Amino acid sequence: MGTGQLDEKTENGSVKVRTFFGLPLPEAHRQALESFLRDCASRAPEFRWTPAQNLHLTIRFLGHVEGSRADGIAARLAAASLMAFDLKLGGMGTFKRGRLARVVWLGLTSGVGEVVVLAAKVEEECERAGLEADARRFNAHLTLARARIRDGAPLPELPPPPELDAWRADELILYRSHLGRAGSVYEPLRRIRLS
Ligand code: 2AM
Repeated sequence: MGTGQLDEKTENGSVKVRTFFGLPLPEAHRQALESFLRDCASRAPEFRWTPAQNLHLTIRFLGHVEGSRADGIAARLAAASLMAFDLKLGGMGTFKRGRLARVVWLGLTSGVGEVVVLAAKVEEECERAGLEADARRFNAHLTLARARIRDGAPLPELPPPPELDAWRADELILYRSHLGRAGSVYEPLRRIRLS
């Protein structure tokens, strides 16, 4: 696990940071998706397409939590001997509101069961650390785009995503999410080896 500075201490104690646990996409896969995402963005400008460097599978969004608390959860997960597994991306899908699409994602054709087990373990540690239980049922997906308008937008016909090889998910990352005008930047804070 990394040892980077997570917490900015103030006189009042811990500063809260926006964090989440995620599985990164390998660099080669991100590169392979880059031109596809560019193509999608020109055909569906009503959606904000994820920059290739940000592509990941969210395992658990923690929201704004004390850095020390997120760190404690990461430490317990690092000590839990979590298993590595293979993942393969599948086809495109959407989360909808009525007939409008709000989120465009890629599903998984391999590794869904293992991701669900991992997410349940992370959820368990989050709750043990005092975080409120995640009300939403975990649904493994790789977000490609979100509608710019809250209610969603009609999704035009898009090109098929490239076929990508399966890969070994051998690292769970605690990310800090920096929200900015130019979009979100995800900073890896802790790397938890899966073996
Ligand atoms: P998603 O894309 O898989 O839906 C980093 O912001 C990640 O945390 C996002 O990719 C998103 O996962 C998830 N996320 C962001 N805001 C969230 C929220 N309010 N509730 C739950 N998950 C959220």
